Amino acid sequence: MSHKVTLIPGDGIGPEVTQATVRILEASGVKFEWESFQVGTDAFEKYGEYIPKEVIESIERTHVGLKGPVTTPVGGGFSSINVALRRKFELYANFRPIRNLPHIPTRYPDVDLIIVRENTESLYSGLEHEVVPGVVESLKIITEKASTRIAKFAFEYARKNQRKKIHAIHKANIMKLSDGLFLRCCRDVAKGYPEITYGEHIVDNTCMQLVMNPYQYDMLVMENLYGDILSDLCAAFVGGLGFVPSANLGDHCAIFEAVHGSAPDIAGKNLANPTALLRSSLLMLRHLGEFDASTLIRNALEKVYRHPEKLTKDIGGQAGTSEFADAVIEEMDKAKAAPAAAL
Ligand code: NAI
Repeated sequence: MSHKVTLIPGDGIGPEVTQATVRILEASGVKFEWESFQVGTDAFEKYGEYIPKEVIESIERTHVGLKGPVTTPVGGGFSSINVALRRKFELYANFRPIRNLPHIPTRYPDVDLIIVRENTESLYSGLEHEVVPGVVESLKIITEKASTRIAKFAFEYARKNQRKKIHAIHKANIMKLSDGLFLRCCRDVAKGYPEITYGEHIVDNTCMQLVMNPYQYDMLVMENLYGDILSDLCAAFVGGLGFVPSANLGDHCAIFEAVHGSAPDIAGKNLANPTALLRSSLLMLRHLGEFDASTLIRNALEKVYRHPEKLTKDIGGQAGTSEFADAVIEEMDKAKAAPAAAL
């Protein structure tokens, strides 16, 4: 059986990390039918639209997307493609597992933390206006529906995956109505999961607590902006943005993407580290039910990480993006050949 997947390579380092990831996925033996599209500035120059309707139709058909980073202009131009896609397909849960890879020197060696970020509202609603010249208002939207939905997602995941503890992160001491509503929804949902310990921490304190001792947390659930900031903070526990995967999940569609951006400073130089997109694609494989392939690639990736010279330059290695992909594929081939050799 082959899986139809919408592929959005993105721009900047996007096409390089996507190509490396696709090569590795295909080498796993799983069959894919890729429907590949450009978005953002590249698409606008060609089709006059930042998200061509063909992309939307493709995701409606495949229900699964794998996406590289896309440059978002600052302070003007088009709005974030990511935010638009999340909104269009109601991808309300942003799921970011934070786990160490072997041999990446970090302050904490055994981090295993899951961040669940509400993906559709808060200050990301994009409701901004100029009240009078020199005064701008930006609206933070929090609804009972979205808060309850994300809390349920987090608790369901915890139950199915034997996670022990969930903290809701908030600033309800200041934003008593909006974050207060978010907390009330989390508390209500928590009552249905007595086996999972539920706690609440204020977002600024959480930043300090995380830096002091990330092991005290198991899963964190929070609104959009706090999730954006804390997930980057937590990326530092496992070596930085080049290592963290993410999944944007809704009830009908899912888009898997790396947490990092389009890194224009290193684009087109075969320097980008594809690990984050590759790890995101492992979440995709699991979503598609391809557990063996996910394990095969994960093991191969971890083996490559035991050889510093095979890593990309951002982590002190010598390899380019494509050589790194070659090394992962070589480890997969060895693993596939191993049982036969043992006979
Ligand atoms: P960035 O993540 O692109 O780069 C930050 C730093 O990390 C740079 O020094 C870059 O070289 C390095 N870096 C990032 N990914 C790397 C990788 N895979 N391998 C090696 N080094 C890597 O963040 P920045 O500069 O804030 O954003 C650049 C553009 O990306 C902006 O237009 C932003 O809006 C967009 N962006 C897109 C995202 C997406 O499509 N999911 C997410 C975040 C930002």
